[in-house]
Amino acid sequence: MSYLIAPSILTANFLDLRKEVEMVNESEADWIHLDIMDGVFVPNLTFGFHIIGQIKTIARKPLDAHLMITDPDRYLEEFRNAGVNKLTVHYEACTHLHRTIRQIKSLGMDAGVAINPHTPIYLLETILTELDLVLNMTVNPGFGAQSFIEFSYHKIRVLKKLISETGSKALIQIDGGVDMTNIRQLADAGVDVFVVGNTVFSADDPAGVISKLKQGGK
Ligand code: DX5
Ligand code: ZN
Repeated sequence: MSYLIAPSILTANFLDLRKEVEMVNESEADWIHLDIMDGVFVPNLTFGFHIIGQIKTIARKPLDAHLMITDPDRYLEEFRNAGVNKLTVHYEACTHLHRTIRQIKSLGMDAGVAINPHTPIYLLETILTELDLVLNMTVNPGFGAQSFIEFSYHKIRVLKKLISETGSKALIQIDGGVDMTNIRQLADAGVDVFVVGNTVFSADDPAGVISKLKQGGK
């Protein structure tokens, strides 16, 4: 059972951000998940290009940016220039999603699409083979430390089947409410990449929690 862990710094201690990023660098984590929120697409605000650029100067893991913003087409190049490696936009925020995905890839980044809990998997069918990543939200986006939405297991299984049927190479990523008690069952259901925020950054030993998560939790 092998899968990737992408700690989300949303609930990290921003007064010690260098220390938090260096903890992730030294840990068994695979990516660094950056939750970018505009206060419009979701009822919360986070950080922008300046902080991403600063993180990039010390990060030794790929930067995985999750854009919870309206009209992300406005900023694709800025995110690439700030050092983002994987850029995920929300299906619900894009009018011309196919063109957006093509632009993300032309800028040299991996392209992902995130879908909210209410958005059905089948809407991704025609674009799935263009994607490197599908981020299936397992909470309603905007905040860390929320409860996992159990219906997500069904969506993961539907997505895994659709990826196989279309021949897509997209990884299945989930985000929100992942912890020691559900990660193994979720990995068995087909998840390739786990975004984990509060479970990691609320722990006394975050790097130890990341290692345990990599080994199946519990
Ligand atoms: C929520 C964000 C998630 C969050 C992680 O909108 O997309 O990445 O920070 O959630 P928890 O804290 O539940 O792991
Ligand atoms: Zn996220």
